[in-house]
Amino acid sequence: MNTCSPIGIGLAGFGTVGSGVWNTLLRNGELITGRTGGQIALQIAKILVRDPAKVRATTSEVPPAMFTTDWRSLVADPAVNIVVELIGGTSDAFDIVAAALRAKKPVVTGNKALLAQRGVELFAISKEFQTPIHFEAAVAGGIPIIRSVQDSFVGNRILSFSGIINGTSNFILGRMSEAGLTFEAALAEAQAKGYAEADPTLDVNGWDAAHKAILLATLAYGFPIDVAAVHVSGIEQVRPADIAFANSLGYVIKLLAVIREHPDRAVEIRIQPSFIAKSNILASVHGVFNAVAVHGDAVGESLFYGRGAGQDPTASSVVADLVEAARSLASLGCHRGFLPYCSAGRLVPVGDTSTAYYVRFDVTDRPGVIAEIARVLADHRIGISGTHSPVNPANPDAEFVDMIFLLHTCPFGKLQQALTHIETLDCVNSTPVVFRIEALT
Ligand code: NAP
Ligand code: HSE
Repeated sequence: MNTCSPIGIGLAGFGTVGSGVWNTLLRNGELITGRTGGQIALQIAKILVRDPAKVRATTSEVPPAMFTTDWRSLVADPAVNIVVELIGGTSDAFDIVAAALRAKKPVVTGNKALLAQRGVELFAISKEFQTPIHFEAAVAGGIPIIRSVQDSFVGNRILSFSGIINGTSNFILGRMSEAGLTFEAALAEAQAKGYAEADPTLDVNGWDAAHKAILLATLAYGFPIDVAAVHVSGIEQVRPADIAFANSLGYVIKLLAVIREHPDRAVEIRIQPSFIAKSNILASVHGVFNAVAVHGDAVGESLFYGRGAGQDPTASSVVADLVEAARSLASLGCHRGFLPYCSAGRLVPVGDTSTAYYVRFDVTDRPGVIAEIARVLADHRIGISGTHSPVNPANPDAEFVDMIFLLHTCPFGKLQQALTHIETLDCVNSTPVVFRIEALT
């Protein structure tokens, strides 16, 4: 039984995640009140949508008067104590969050694009109005990674994060390799399951993972990160042949986020398709699951694993934040430290980051091609560990073929210089495709 006055929630967005929050509160509301010692009863007071007439799975449960299309009335409603932003995007969402903070209503959001791109502005408002923003759902869906970094690891210097932090792209790579689906068919499945962003380009081109990596790096290193300076490439260029070749060499291909501390307050952040040895634990992260390996100077290695997207797992994180936000109502005047607590940080230019590489060239099949490419690589002092030219069984006499080079570790900038030169060779027909070969510990 609820023994306390309910805390009113203004739910901006009633799509995949918003309706998951509704369902979770309906199912577990009493449990939450019990777990909080009878202190907290959460009750949705108002719901913002674009189209109140849309037929939804929850249509019969939600009183029509609860819906609004006017975000200002939701934020201003005296029955709303906490605002949950789950509409996505960076313009209306920014206005809603900023207005809620100015009204001293704590905010819960799952919007990583908003915080990665406009977090500096929003956390300044949060600080000015001494009102917190909670964002557990913004990184890795149901995995409690934000709270772990903010609270559990607060006593650690974070040496690195590496992980799979986009469920949609991991799901797509898995469906392409295990079920032989085309890229398009696998993406359509991810969308139907509610994993993808409203604009799935962000999942596929690596930017959704980049937004999450920026949030993790900001928490760990405390300086504003220039979004444009982060090196991002997505899975659009991964072909079934790459997956098969990786497999034959003992690797899987994953969209990997790497965040690593360097000397002199420099931080490396990059997101790219990467070859990972099958023996590495991250190779076993399948489907919509995410995993984040965190290395702290005191705690050592920790691994967080769970569902990185989808209705219920993401709602789990939002509801956890709601309870925390409800607790903060009793002690307004605090905000969560976020930015900036370190002014001297800087990003490592991607050209200075080193790994081994898999490079796929589209070449004209004639004698001497391997030697021509190898000559340029040698001129740039880049070592070759293997070459391979898979035969297309459907067209064994093709004029244009894929030529794969496996390259030893070198700075990415050096590789880019060599590839710029190689692209000018007559035998090379398009821009080479580069994946990292990542030596994870
Ligand atoms: P979604 O299914 O597209 O739902 C968006 C909801 O917001 C819809 O109810 C829509 O109204 C409403 N909406 C959108 N723009 C609006 C506007 N300008 N004014 C009023 N209402 C508006 O999105 P979602 O998948 O739930 O994602 C929501 C947020 O959570 C995003 O920031 C996303 O990045 C984040 N997130 C999603 C997941 C996931 O697995 N899906 C996981 C973690 C974080 P209508 O219903 O009327 O169209
Ligand atoms: N579209 C995102 C993903 C949702 O697939 O990981 C979770 O942030």
